[in-house]
Amino acid sequence: MIQHSLNIAYKEYSSPDELNDSTRLLLSKAWEACKSAYAPYSKFNVGAALELETGLIVTGNNQENAAYPSGLCAERVAVFNAASNYPGIAILNIAVVARTEPFGLQHPVTPCGACRQVLAEYENLSGKPISIWMQGSYGLVWMVNGMNNLLPLMFQGEKLKK
Ligand code: THU
Repeated sequence: MIQHSLNIAYKEYSSPDELNDSTRLLLSKAWEACKSAYAPYSKFNVGAALELETGLIVTGNNQENAAYPSGLCAERVAVFNAASNYPGIAILNIAVVARTEPFGLQHPVTPCGACRQVLAEYENLSGKPISIWMQGSYGLVWMVNGMNNLLPLMFQGEKLKK
């Protein structure tokens, strides 16, 4: 038996004041997108904003449905929006924010497993690491650089080939 262990790394900023202008802008676009989330069932509104390598910002928010599994997370709405409208253009950054009532979110919300898998596949396609910026209700920001830090040992498409 061999025991393996992996390290993951993330950065913590106590306030967006510690970030540069383009990251603050991306977070503000995610907050804007969060306002128009359609989340009547969970009342958990999520907004996502991607920065493509051309500098273009593409947003998305969670879209729920009465048939619960038919809904989709904000991150995948944003990523599929970008991939369908701007195919082949690398995603360099994604900001993810969330708001719920009646309580504040002490910590940033981190993408679910399915969104991690989707982000990781586009990262592999472009060969450029994606930075994920996440903010909670009180200013605390976490940043993960590279999907390997969010989804180590991911399932990869090569496994489907002989
Ligand atoms: N949700 C997201 O949009 N992104 C995440 O990273 C976590 C969860 C959505 C899905 C659902 O509409 C609501 O939040 C509650 O799970």
